[in-house]
Amino acid sequence: MTHPATDTPPPPPAPPQAAVGPLMRGLSVLRALSADSGGRQAVGDLVRATGLARSTVDRVLSTLARLGHVRLEGRDAVLAPGLLELGNAYLAASELPDRLAPAADRLADALDESVSLAVPDGDGVRFVHQATRRRAMSLAFRIGDLLPAERGAVGALFAVDWDEDAWLRWRQRRAADPTDAGFPAVPPRRYEGDGTGPADVAADFTSRVEAARAAGWSLDDQLIEPGLVAVAMPVRDPRGRPACVVSVVSHTSRLTAGDLPAAVLPRLRETVAEMERSLAAPAPSATASPPGPSAAATRHASWTRASKQELGPEFVESLARGLLALSAFGTGRAALPLTAVAEATGLARATARRALLTLEHLGYLATDGRLFRPTPKLLELGFAPLSGLALSDIARPHLARLVEQVHDSASMAVLSGTDIQYVARVPTVRIMSINITVGTRFSAYPTSMGRVLLAGLAPVARAAHLAHADLAPLTRHTVTSPERLAALLDQVHDDGYALVDEELEEGLRSIAVPVRDRHGRVVAAVNISTHAGRRSPAEDRDAFLPPLRTAAARIETDLHTAGRYLRVPLA
Ligand code: PHB
Repeated sequence: MTHPATDTPPPPPAPPQAAVGPLMRGLSVLRALSADSGGRQAVGDLVRATGLARSTVDRVLSTLARLGHVRLEGRDAVLAPGLLELGNAYLAASELPDRLAPAADRLADALDESVSLAVPDGDGVRFVHQATRRRAMSLAFRIGDLLPAERGAVGALFAVDWDEDAWLRWRQRRAADPTDAGFPAVPPRRYEGDGTGPADVAADFTSRVEAARAAGWSLDDQLIEPGLVAVAMPVRDPRGRPACVVSVVSHTSRLTAGDLPAAVLPRLRETVAEMERSLAAPAPSATASPPGPSAAATRHASWTRASKQELGPEFVESLARGLLALSAFGTGRAALPLTAVAEATGLARATARRALLTLEHLGYLATDGRLFRPTPKLLELGFAPLSGLALSDIARPHLARLVEQVHDSASMAVLSGTDIQYVARVPTVRIMSINITVGTRFSAYPTSMGRVLLAGLAPVARAAHLAHADLAPLTRHTVTSPERLAALLDQVHDDGYALVDEELEEGLRSIAVPVRDRHGRVVAAVNISTHAGRRSPAEDRDAFLPPLRTAAARIETDLHTAGRYLRVPLA
């Protein structure tokens, strides 16, 4: 390792002849948008960041919006939950979270410390799972975040297996970016003051790699930020290659770097052994719940063709087809030949081939010349910025679209004890005597969302709720008999909606439907509220139920995509 630190990185390789330009431009827009930690940027800034023409960015964005990967809000483009499908394709194909996350979560519970799983990505380290127990004062990485290998405990363990080329690329990156500006997930490195320079970073890393090789584990003594300490161990696949690294992360206010190994290594070793058994076990059956109808429909070439016919020049079909190629990959479909990708997506062979070669050129697929497999780099496309989404964030744009259609207020609520609590609301005119805002609570029983939520409970929980609720009449219409209420809830359960007419407040009518998670559990309700005087209840039901159900289905599609590998809080 005597190469000078002044090695300059080679220019990036030219795209192959077959590369699909619009796909490359679409991905550069997604990368630029993902560079913002909130996943939002003014369209003008995207034009500047990508160097593309404004008209190109506009067409790319309208295509990505159609795909559910971005949303346009005024002058801004915003990452949308549908984009998580791309990172999900890698995570599902890798099977790492499906096989290892339960053991990681148990380790976090047993130690009451944060535990993460990370994989190598170039000369960096990318997080694929987090069981977070962060207390005060320490930063938490998100799924999709990228660390430089030399910062943290993880990279030294992967670097044990680096060859000369890998070390050369690492030195070139260090020389080109000594402060880690290209890694927005970590605080920038500073050299002033303590007399250390880039050469010391290199020497320290190589000695930590040697220590990791000898010990089989690695220590992070505040390499990322003051206070943050971690111990990490590799998890090997049946062929003995490190598939990922599991880290236990603590803080010097609880455990110093000196105490951490003795405190956690015994448990950590047991977990690694358990994880290695999980990796050696036969392939799990494709446990993924089937995608919702609209997601499935977008995963086929016939959908891109229809979208082109509808949207014309505002839909860049070659971009949509290129991204479509990624949908062929998933659980049990980690490495596919061209033919399988063409078959799964309905793309012509030549089209699928050009898409795969373009994605390989950009590093989103790896290939041995015949089989293509998704890489963790796919997680750079918005996964970390989208990983903080709550159900209320997912719902809000869909409720806004619903309100534009029906011109009445729409809301989302969840059950909280015997109450419902609003987690999202898009108002139009105020028709209630009290102003409803996010956080507002009502007793569940006289509200449409409450009835949908109660009807979604298991029979025992439903009965317990009715036994505890204080069933007071709020208007002359309020149903207060437990027997009648129980019968109404059965009806709501069968109908899939609840219509409540003037039981909460005179003059107020509302209609609600459930929002279900990937496992079919009712986790929230959405409703439209309106004046009772304008139409009959049946007229309102006929007018409101279809668009309300469409909005709920869109929310569910996004929730199921987001919930595949992320914990989605309600609010
Ligand atoms: C983390 O998961 O946050 C983590 C992992 C390894 C480190 C530091 C932090 O060295």
